[in-house]
Amino acid sequence: MFGEGSSTYAEFAVLSAWARMPEGLTFEEAAGYPSVVETALRIIRESGVRSGQTLLVSGASGGVGSAVLQIARDRGITVIGTAGAANQDYLRGLGALATTYGEGWVERVRELGRVDAALDLAGSGVIRELVELTGDPRKVISIADLDAPKLGVRFSGVAGSVPDALAEAVRLITRDALHIPVEKSYPLAEAALAHIDSQAGHTRGRRVLVV
Ligand SMILES: NC(=O)c1ccc[n+]([C@@H]2O[C@H](COP(=O)([O-])OP(=O)(O)OC[C@H]3O[C@@H](n4cnc5c(N)ncnc54)[C@H](OP(=O)(O)O)[C@@H]3O)[C@@H](O)[C@H]2O)c1
Repeated sequence: MFGEGSSTYAEFAVLSAWARMPEGLTFEEAAGYPSVVETALRIIRESGVRSGQTLLVSGASGGVGSAVLQIARDRGITVIGTAGAANQDYLRGLGALATTYGEGWVERVRELGRVDAALDLAGSGVIRELVELTGDPRKVISIADLDAPKLGVRFSGVAGSVPDALAEAVRLITRDALHIPVEKSYPLAEAALAHIDSQAGHTRGRRVLVV
């Protein structure tokens, strides 16, 4: 089984959702899915983006971004993703149009196409630009910038508001439509190091603790 809950750095934990693990996944791989898939489904829904439209994802190569890109592709949504130079091919491999963040990024995004909705996953202080690109603060969602509401943008932070997220994860994984890589796993004793590495904000996919 795999699932999610709170206080799960433990041998035994109370889960709020669980499901049979899809065949072929290791426990480490399976652990990487539940929370990012719930987050991705929630913020895609909250952004209002639909099939045939274009979604801009700022900070697209982390765990949440990797899930957003693949779920959007599965739904016929075009994605423009930003990440560092080393992750451009990774984003393209997940079906997105890719460009780098940093100076001139707004122009580079404009050259890639019109943007209908945008997600701020990196919390890198780009809310104003995302509102400019979409033309409407209601079409922008942040999961990483607590100041977003000052510009009329919703901060999405209520986990668990997509009750069938785990079932959807299983469906996508089973159809080979979703794969979240594990960048590194750590023994429980190295949980602090996992947090330090994670806080650097450059993880491709997930970091996982092994109990
Ligand atoms: N509110 C919620 O419900 C919720 C749920 C889950 C996660 N979160 C939060 O959401 C954030 C994203 O988490 P994550 O695990 O997916 O990924 P992450 O490791 O925090 O972020 C990685 C992404 O951000 C990019 N990035 C790094 N610096 C950037 C910059 N200056 N400008 C633009 N992009 C930049 C990285 O690209 P490179 O690696 O190529 O540099 C990569 O694409 C975290 O802050 C996490 O705590 C919130």
